[in-house]
Amino acid sequence: MQAITQDSYGPPQDVMVLREVPRPVPEERDVLVRVHATPVSGTDWHLTRGLPYVARPVTGWRRPKSRIPGYDLAGTVVETGAAVTTLRPGDQVYGWAASTFAEYATVPERQLVPVPTNLTLEQAAAVPIAAFTALQAVRDGGGLRPGQADEPGRRVLITGASGGVGTYAVQFAKAYGAHVTGMCRTSKMDLVAGLGADEVVDYTTTALRDLGRRFDVLIDLYGNPSLADCARVLVPGGRIVYVGGTGGRWFMGVDRWLRGMVLAPLRRLRTRPVIHSDSRDDLVTITGMIESGAVLPVLDRTFRLAQAAEAIRFVTAGEVRGQAVLRCAD
Ligand SMILES: NC(=O)c1ccc[n+]([C@@H]2O[C@H](COP(=O)([O-])OP(=O)(O)OC[C@H]3O[C@@H](n4cnc5c(N)ncnc54)[C@H](OP(=O)(O)O)[C@@H]3O)[C@@H](O)[C@H]2O)c1
Repeated sequence: MQAITQDSYGPPQDVMVLREVPRPVPEERDVLVRVHATPVSGTDWHLTRGLPYVARPVTGWRRPKSRIPGYDLAGTVVETGAAVTTLRPGDQVYGWAASTFAEYATVPERQLVPVPTNLTLEQAAAVPIAAFTALQAVRDGGGLRPGQADEPGRRVLITGASGGVGTYAVQFAKAYGAHVTGMCRTSKMDLVAGLGADEVVDYTTTALRDLGRRFDVLIDLYGNPSLADCARVLVPGGRIVYVGGTGGRWFMGVDRWLRGMVLAPLRRLRTRPVIHSDSRDDLVTITGMIESGAVLPVLDRTFRLAQAAEAIRFVTAGEVRGQAVLRCAD
């Protein structure tokens, strides 16, 4: 099969090579999936370079542990392991996986669920990690619950509202009854408004500290603002939900999360760091919300597998609206 391979860390265009490699063989509880599509995000840019360094015990010290990059997929089951009971060849599935920049991938059965009936496979590939992160940031980090849709809306501010995670976060927060303000660049304000945001702020003209109004929750997907700035936009007792990291090759902002977590009480603020967890229950919840129309993926361009490096450049150049995916096999 064809796959993107990577034997060293470096810029995607230098280290990613399309090669013929053996097709993986499913173990007892795995299924072999023909990968129709897999998402591309800024995380791929970082992982390709081996950043942040603090993640190298997991990703590999000198070179990537996994020779084939890529996470999440949507595709068709072609073969099942002997102990697989819920899936059959021909089923269209999506979920979280590894080594997905390839025509085929093996995936544990429990990590896959049927593709939402109202999505294409390309759209479905753009769901798992981005939607897990957004749901967990809104629900677990922000403390919003579905039942709150009938209560007076909590005021939620979301930075990075036009990105892969942000486009879902806006929709989850609206579905859970919040009054949502999203921040993004000028050219994407229509996109964020179209997702249901009550207000959209252009970060190129208005800094977070100059918003002049207060929120109950800040979901920080970009920027890691200072505590002084957070205190200007949050009510006393307000929550900062740390999700995105910016700056520094070693820690990429996680050091700022830790500082914020220690010092926030001095400013009468609360902090909630969110590191997404892959959860079958959440994937089922998300599938239901997609099928009800409460939440939908925002898919921009689809690239071919051979264009993996170009796709990563596209998503990190600020052009992408929502997400991009690679089409790996027909
Ligand atoms: N904690 C976790 O488990 C987890 C999981 C996934 C991702 N993440 C992190 O979450 C963050 C968002 O991920 P993503 O995939 O949504 O990224 P993305 O698609 O690249 O989106 C980035 C967002 O940041 C905004 N942005 C870019 N430059 C900005 C600037 N100078 N000032 C203000 N906003 C700016 C972009 O707005 P415009 O495009 O409108 O400029 C866009 O909305 C990343 O830091 C990622 O590493 C964390």
